[in-house]
Amino acid sequence: MHADDLRTAAAGMLDRNWDDARGYCVPNPDTYPHLWLWDSCFHAVVWARLGDPRAARELDEVLAGQLPGGMVPHMRYGAEGPDAWLGPLPGTSSITQPPVFGHAARALADQGVAVSADTLEKARRGLDWLWEHRRTDDDLLFIVHPWEAGNDHSPRWDGWGGPGRTPADYDRAARSQWNKDLMGAVSFDDAGAAVWSSRFVAAPAGFNAYSAFAMAELAQVTGDDELAGRARRIAAAMDARLWDPAQNLWNDLALVGGAEDGGTGDIPASDGVMGALVTADGEKAQAALRQLREPERFGAPFGPANVARTHPSYDPRSYWRGPAWPQLSYLFGIALRRWGLDADADEVVRAARAVAERGEWPEYWDPETGDALGAAPQSWTALAAAMP
Ligand code: GLC
Repeated sequence: MHADDLRTAAAGMLDRNWDDARGYCVPNPDTYPHLWLWDSCFHAVVWARLGDPRAARELDEVLAGQLPGGMVPHMRYGAEGPDAWLGPLPGTSSITQPPVFGHAARALADQGVAVSADTLEKARRGLDWLWEHRRTDDDLLFIVHPWEAGNDHSPRWDGWGGPGRTPADYDRAARSQWNKDLMGAVSFDDAGAAVWSSRFVAAPAGFNAYSAFAMAELAQVTGDDELAGRARRIAAAMDARLWDPAQNLWNDLALVGGAEDGGTGDIPASDGVMGALVTADGEKAQAALRQLREPERFGAPFGPANVARTHPSYDPRSYWRGPAWPQLSYLFGIALRRWGLDADADEVVRAARAVAERGEWPEYWDPETGDALGAAPQSWTALAAAMP
């Protein structure tokens, strides 16, 4: 398919998922009828690449949900709230998600889309909140619920007692119940923001990389040296504390729970490569990124698998336990180009486009076959038209 045709198709799909009254795309009208933080940031990136002014509007809407203390919630509810209890606030969840708004601000600026001073200020406050309320003494950021990482059902979280450790015993309902139980262990501050958990606290490689990247990117837009310095500190902490030389990946660190149960932060998941977005260490970056193409690691015919293909927990068709994801592919593309691995980036882009060209726009897909999985059409899959 010609690139222009793909752009037209992506624009049409996003337009159908757009809610003009609320100012954002729902990820999917049936399965995900609310605003999700990182989804909407990716939608804004695509709108900007398509030259559509809805880019600024959607990014504004992500940050319009900011709590008084600064936390940006992972969801803002549409007309009706979700059936799950996600904290004490009526209109939003009380947990967060990867703060991709820092990168979105940069991507919009690069496309010449004006981002308001108010939104830039809110983005800075959102990143300040993470730095002030979600940082360990040694400069790693932590999360208090698996959903904050974005990779909700990753085998990385199995060490916290989540059910469904193998493809054979995977049970989505049981897994949901476990997530609800974990939500019950979260404590909140006066503004309703989640600050701690008695059962689950972790410093994930992915979340730290996304957050440091967001800081570096926003700092580029605003010329904010302090913020750029924080990004470097998180990246250095990741290199010092999360890097696993046996696997050549950045691993997750268990802070509450997990470890007692054997911990599974070292499951070879592809978000363990994301440190390459921010590290200053070229050797680590190259060693991690190389695995995106290696067949015995993440290299599959239709884009990087989310779990190493030779690992026993790999299931190419099961939610967060193996499939390829468009937003991860987009970020891999950025990381690969950052380190000059253009042929590998081209390959990731090719795979994401090949799936999008089939016209189903799946939420995620089987990396072995390209078969559509999850909700469809899913807005963030339009990233195929905005790949780096
Ligand atoms: C799922 C994903 C999460 C995403 C949401 C909306 O919960 O795990 O990352 O933000 O769907 O697409």
